[in-house]
Amino acid sequence: MYKHDFSLFLRPITNPEMVDLFDKLKMEAGPLAKYSHLPDDYFFFPKLEGDIGPHMKFNGKDVLNWSLNNYLGLANHPEVRKTDGEAAAQYGMGLPMGARMMSGNSVNHLELERQLAEFEKKEDVMLLNFGYQGVVSIIDALVDRKDVIVYDAESHACIIDGVRLHMGKRFVYTHNDMDSLEKQLQRATKLADETGGGILVITEGVFGMSGKQGDLKGVVALKSKYNFRLFVDDAHGFGTMGKTGAGTGEEQGVQDQVDLYFSTFAKSMASIGAFVAGSKNIIKYLRYSVRSQIYAKSLPMPLVVGALKRLELLKTNPSMKDNLWKIVNAMQNGLKERGFNIGTTTSPVTPVLFKGGVGEAANMAMDLRENYGIFCSVVIYPVVPKDVIMFRIIPTAVHTLEDVERTLSAFSKLKTKLDSGFYKEEALVSVTKAI
Ligand SMILES: Cc1ncc(COP(=O)(O)O)c(C=O)c1O
Repeated sequence: MYKHDFSLFLRPITNPEMVDLFDKLKMEAGPLAKYSHLPDDYFFFPKLEGDIGPHMKFNGKDVLNWSLNNYLGLANHPEVRKTDGEAAAQYGMGLPMGARMMSGNSVNHLELERQLAEFEKKEDVMLLNFGYQGVVSIIDALVDRKDVIVYDAESHACIIDGVRLHMGKRFVYTHNDMDSLEKQLQRATKLADETGGGILVITEGVFGMSGKQGDLKGVVALKSKYNFRLFVDDAHGFGTMGKTGAGTGEEQGVQDQVDLYFSTFAKSMASIGAFVAGSKNIIKYLRYSVRSQIYAKSLPMPLVVGALKRLELLKTNPSMKDNLWKIVNAMQNGLKERGFNIGTTTSPVTPVLFKGGVGEAANMAMDLRENYGIFCSVVIYPVVPKDVIMFRIIPTAVHTLEDVERTLSAFSKLKTKLDSGFYKEEALVSVTKAI
């Protein structure tokens, strides 16, 4: 059990006194503290076991799993598993050693960049070891104190962290609101005129929590009136959106207006790594300027060879994306027909929104996992407002229509119970007896 020592926080700030840093950081378990009798890896850091896919084990039991961004089902594709295994055996995980710029380059790294550039219809691509670090570092490399950043209010944490590094001005616009963006562009233009700097606009292709697409069309329309460069983080759109799967830029017909297109390999590609695509000049500049690449070891060869295989399958096997959308449509239409609120999604990300508090969210999630054998992520305050519970369903190409039916039926039962006040009960016995 955690022992809370609030005394440190209650001291008057008018009489500050040095504290031990770690004492100051002592953890407060928050509103979920009453569930601390449950194993530490139940709500946070849960362990899903078995081969990645719709059917895995959680807490020793089989679960139907809707929690992974394995959109195309590539994680456990036999050809992918074979290539990953053979590449690891052939090269080991160390090769190539050193940063790309020093000793960590290879023909495979260059070939993957060439193929990604071709697929994204951009002149060049630079590989990144991780998406998060890559985005932070790209933003850092692109702007100096004279420049202005204008970014969407619901941007991913990696964008926010990149913006935090910026020494100049930044303006945030209301999520996906083009009037608000235009107002901020006016302010940014005025400022950049004074400083002699430029403007960087940052948004996402698909917002990972709501599933809503960024209004890329709306953003690029403003290019005729304002001088800015556009950076799009399409972590959830790559492989899932657009005719060929090239992403949200392709989907909205504006890929040529996206100056820097970014995606991670952590979602549709079911691996690790990332890339940024753009014109030859800007990618060359980034190769010499992105600190998280210059001062870090290059992406291991098996990940590069594995990414080449995944990209080949993504390009030559459109049935994977077709299957994904068959499941997405069945799930989203089924939920809507049953009266569920799935927010504003226009992508595979499927939020299911309920009214209720954190305690009810925990009870519902446990009931879903323990008694219906369904696992999906539950999102609570502060990611969503205090009285909102969000279950986040990620359909994939390897789910079936039966999986969808089973889930719809379970959600209907959950809703009836929630409406009747069942999950309000403090005693969790009826829900947790199986644990
Ligand atoms: C929108 C977005 N950008 C960037 C990242 C970070 O990518 P990575 O996992 O490769 O660090 C994520 C999450 O993985 C994401 O959802």
